[in-house]
Amino acid sequence: ITINVSQNGGNKTSPLQYGLMFEDINHGGDGGLYAELVRNRAFQGSTVYPANLDGYEPVNGAILALQNLSKPLSPSMPSSLNVAKGSNNNNNHGLIGFANEGWWGIEVKPQKYAGSFCVQGAYEGDFDVSLQSKITQEVFATAKVKSSGAQHKDWIQYKYELLPKKSASNTNNTLTITFDSKGLKDGSLNFNLISLFPPTYNNRPNGLRIDLVEAMAELEGKFLRFPGGSDVEGVQAPYWYKWNETVGDLKDRYSRPSAWTYEESNGIGLIEYMNWCDDMGLEPILAVWDGHYLSNEVISESDLQPYIDDTLNQLEFLMGGPDTPYGSWRASLGYPKPWQINYVEIGNEDNLYGGLETYIAYRFQAYYDAITAKYPHMTVMESLTGMPGPAAAASDYHQYSTPDGFVSQFNYFDQMPVTNRTLNGEVATVYPNNPSNSVAWGSPFPLYPWWIGSVAEAVFLLGEERNSPKIIGASYAPMFRNINNWQWSPTLIAFDADSSHTSRSTSWHVIKLLSTNKITQNLPTTWSGGDIGPLYWVAGRNDNTGSNIFKAAVYNSTSDVPVTVNFAGCNAKIANLTILSSDDPNASNYPGGPEVVKTEIQSVTANAQGAFEFSLPNLSVAVLKT
Ligand code: AHR
Repeated sequence: ITINVSQNGGNKTSPLQYGLMFEDINHGGDGGLYAELVRNRAFQGSTVYPANLDGYEPVNGAILALQNLSKPLSPSMPSSLNVAKGSNNNNNHGLIGFANEGWWGIEVKPQKYAGSFCVQGAYEGDFDVSLQSKITQEVFATAKVKSSGAQHKDWIQYKYELLPKKSASNTNNTLTITFDSKGLKDGSLNFNLISLFPPTYNNRPNGLRIDLVEAMAELEGKFLRFPGGSDVEGVQAPYWYKWNETVGDLKDRYSRPSAWTYEESNGIGLIEYMNWCDDMGLEPILAVWDGHYLSNEVISESDLQPYIDDTLNQLEFLMGGPDTPYGSWRASLGYPKPWQINYVEIGNEDNLYGGLETYIAYRFQAYYDAITAKYPHMTVMESLTGMPGPAAAASDYHQYSTPDGFVSQFNYFDQMPVTNRTLNGEVATVYPNNPSNSVAWGSPFPLYPWWIGSVAEAVFLLGEERNSPKIIGASYAPMFRNINNWQWSPTLIAFDADSSHTSRSTSWHVIKLLSTNKITQNLPTTWSGGDIGPLYWVAGRNDNTGSNIFKAAVYNSTSDVPVTVNFAGCNAKIANLTILSSDDPNASNYPGGPEVVKTEIQSVTANAQGAFEFSLPNLSVAVLKT
């Protein structure tokens, strides 16, 4: 097939073409990106997921009990851990305490760990804090923290540091806190907000896990859609996403039952999201709650206004000057400079779970009108995951499909009116090819993205790139999965407590290739010698670098595809060709497994006519760049 790329015409490609979508699912936040190492640090629960002692074990026969004291640490942390000496305790030293096993393991490396814990009760003596092996009890680091005296009956926060001298050979480790029961005045102590952080990305306090941020950063994404996904919707009333409960001191943050079977700490709160955007240069696409729960409960039209007002308050918190009520709150938290929000998405997948009728009848319009009246510059997106969206707004198309299903949608956006714009906020192959080309929702999905699916996603994404400026951008979803406790597969990145296991999926490789070779202006093509399919492509140039770029994927070819690309007006004699392929269409990358994506880089010399000739194997994704 010979492809001629015009020198002129086409459209500007969205500067946000590839980005990231995040919601706390699969312990992608708590137990994942959020670097907190202690699981269940504050015993927070809800009527959906009641408070419990998950993650904790007694040390030396101590009796651990969950208690709701009359004077809790804070209203948002009503339950705490009571540690008392057991009757069968025969430990001569009187040392008792508890161990926390982390998020199914704690990685110990020779680096500084910073921690804290809150204690209530009268105790004279030291606390011993250590990182130790759960199997051998080998202690990798320890700190002594002196109690502030026997008289104290109020909650006191203690801080500590741990400095292991070596790495532990595995992550089967605990954070252990013990104290001398002989120094107790009233028989027990109460603990809460027990925390331990390793170094975080950009050294942010309360920050993010470095290896996971690095895996995201390598994609060079340009936007972050947060905080969901289904999670922003709330699993049932009254647990909607209350942004104001996610900011400020950790001890004042309420937890929230996530959409995904566990209680979320809100450790990654609104400000952490904005810091994340700042640190990685990401445009925030802020999803706001819109009066609809996953449980099919909907706020009636007459009751909706306070929730709309709350969204306006949220926007003022982020964007308002320090002289505004909510802007001054932000400033008081150490962030005087307003952030800029250009994209707001109203809810998530409101076409599902009984949301559609009210969304169309009044909810979307009410949010849209209120937001654009105050912030006319904003792109306010509807979440109906179809097209077209309201003409003045934009939409968010989600697509979970089979490999064939994605390939059949290469032209999907060709039909979309140019007056509409859409995000593709959730894109993933989740189910193998089958005769009806449908996803059997409810049946088990593959654990990891697999090569043929990733190639099919590339075909779909190339179809998007051809359709700028209708497209705002695309992101894979879900992004993360802690392989020890999860609700949804496949994901872009899979991990466990051991950072050396963090696995970049086959889809991650495809997105990286497409994202890091940016087309700023797509260009029309004409072709001869074959049809679109099995070769799919987009062509254009990058006006910042002067490169001509041709991106392609081959799907369902019986042989290698010979390709000739002729960039009109291009004098370059050499182009670089990067080809991704795999020996096995069903191969996946997974934690601890081999890399299944093969990367081949060729230098292609222009022929006498100035065109570049090469061939691409079946099931490959490639970029040619001058
Ligand atoms: O990405 C997983 C889920 O899929 C999201 O939470 C939801 O938006 C979609 O249905």
